[in-house]
Amino acid sequence: MRILLVGSGGREHALARTLAKSRHTDTLLIAPGNPGTAQCGTNVDVAADDLEGLLALATERDVDLTVVGPEQPLVDGIVDRFEAEGLRIVGPTQAAARLEGSKAFANQFMSRHDIPTASFRVFEADEGEAAAAYIEDVGAPIVVKADGLAGGKGAFVCSSVEAAHDALHQIVDDRAFGAAGDRVVIEEKMEGEEVSVLALTDGTNYVLLPPSQDHKPIGEGGTGPNTGGMGAFAPAPLLDATALTEVCRRIIEPTLQGMRAEGVPYRGVLYCGLMITDEGPKVVEYNCRFGDPEAQVILPLLDTDLVEVLDRLVRGNFEQFSLRTTPGAAACVVLASDGYPIAYDTGREITGIDDAEALPEVSVIHAGTRRRPDGGLVTDGGRVMGVTARGADLPAALERAYEGADRIQFQGKTLRRDIGQKGIAHLDT
Ligand code: AMP
Ligand code: GLY
Repeated sequence: MRILLVGSGGREHALARTLAKSRHTDTLLIAPGNPGTAQCGTNVDVAADDLEGLLALATERDVDLTVVGPEQPLVDGIVDRFEAEGLRIVGPTQAAARLEGSKAFANQFMSRHDIPTASFRVFEADEGEAAAAYIEDVGAPIVVKADGLAGGKGAFVCSSVEAAHDALHQIVDDRAFGAAGDRVVIEEKMEGEEVSVLALTDGTNYVLLPPSQDHKPIGEGGTGPNTGGMGAFAPAPLLDATALTEVCRRIIEPTLQGMRAEGVPYRGVLYCGLMITDEGPKVVEYNCRFGDPEAQVILPLLDTDLVEVLDRLVRGNFEQFSLRTTPGAAACVVLASDGYPIAYDTGREITGIDDAEALPEVSVIHAGTRRRPDGGLVTDGGRVMGVTARGADLPAALERAYEGADRIQFQGKTLRRDIGQKGIAHLDT
C-alpha cells in the first residue's frame, strides 16, 4: 500500500517507524516530516495544516491510506475533505473531532451521556463578568480553560482566585489564544493521578492500546510549567485489568455510544486523558489522535501490524478483532533545549545518536531536529528528541532509555531524571 503520514513531530517519527516496518507498506510519504521520518520514507514538503496541498499530494501519488498525526488538520476537517474525494483516511470527521476541538462541546457531551468528569460551567467571551462572579462563588482551587485548540497551553490549574481571574483575563481580554478563547470553560479541580487510555475504534467496535503515563511539567517531581510532555511509559501499572474494564464501561463505551446516538460516530484514535480519583476514573480531556510522547511508548509494544489495524479501522471491520501486544514495557525520555518551554536556542549540533541506537531495543525519535545543508544534525525546537527503549519490565526499559539519553549530546541538553518513577511506585504496591 502507498501510505501518507501527516505531521512532523516525535509522534510522527514513531508512527513512521511502525508504518515502515509493516509488510503492507510499499511506499511511505510523510508531509512534511522531519530528519527522523526521512529515514523511514520520503518526506514531502507540504504543511500538516495545508488541507488542499495534502489532498493534491494524496491524489497525485495515488495514496491508499492517509494517517494523520496532529489534531489541527482533524479539527479543520481533513477527514471530510479526503472522504468526499473517495480517499481513505484514519481519523474522526470534523464534527466528531470536536471532542478535542471544543472543551465546552466535550464537557456538555459528557454531561448528556453521564460520563464522569469535573463539574463545569461554560461562558461566552462577552460573559466575562459572569465568569468572574462564578470564580468568586466557587473559589480556589479551580481550573480555567480556553475552549478551543491552544497547543496544550490553554488550561490553567489555579490555586488562588487571583490566578483564576488572571487566567480568565488572558483568555478573554488579552485574547492570548485568539479564537480558541471565544468561549471559556471553568472546571472543578480534580485530584488524583493522570493516565492516558487510547482506543482505536471503527465507530462501533474498539481495541484498547496499552495505558500510558506522560510527564507534563518541565521539572522533576512534577514542578514548573507544563510542556508538551517530557517522557512517558507504558503499560501504566496504575491501571490493572479491573481498572481498565471500569474505564471501558464508564468512559470509552458510553463515549462511542453517545457519539453514535448524536449522529456523529467517532472513528479513529480516541485518546482519553483520565484522572484516577477517589470516586473512580474521570475524563480530563479527550484528544482525537495519538498522544506525543505516548505514541513513542505505545507503538513499540504493538505486536499486530499497524497498517492492518488501521486498514480494518477505516473499513469498519473491527468486529471480532483483537490486538496483540508484546510483553514487557517501553519508556521514553525526552531531551529538551535548555529554557524550554519558555525561551530556548536552536541550531545546536547533536551527536551520539548512533551510539545510543547501538544499545539493544533503543530507538532515537526525532521531534525538533533539522539537517543542515552540510548534512549535520542540529536542534530545531524545544523538545529535540525522545530516547525510547523496550525492556522486560519498566525498570529495565527506563535504564536503557536513560543509558541512550546519556549517549546523546548537544549544548543545553536538559531532561527529567525521574521519568517512570510514578509507575515504579505502583509496581511496588
Ligand atoms: P487539558 O488541556 O484540558 O488537557 O489540561 C491540561 C492539564 O491540566 C491536564 O493534563 C491536567 O494536568 C490539568 N487539568 C486540566 N483540567 C483539570 C481539572 N479539571 N482538574 C485537575 N487538573 C486538570
Ligand atoms: N501527551 C499529551 C498529548 O499528546 O496531548
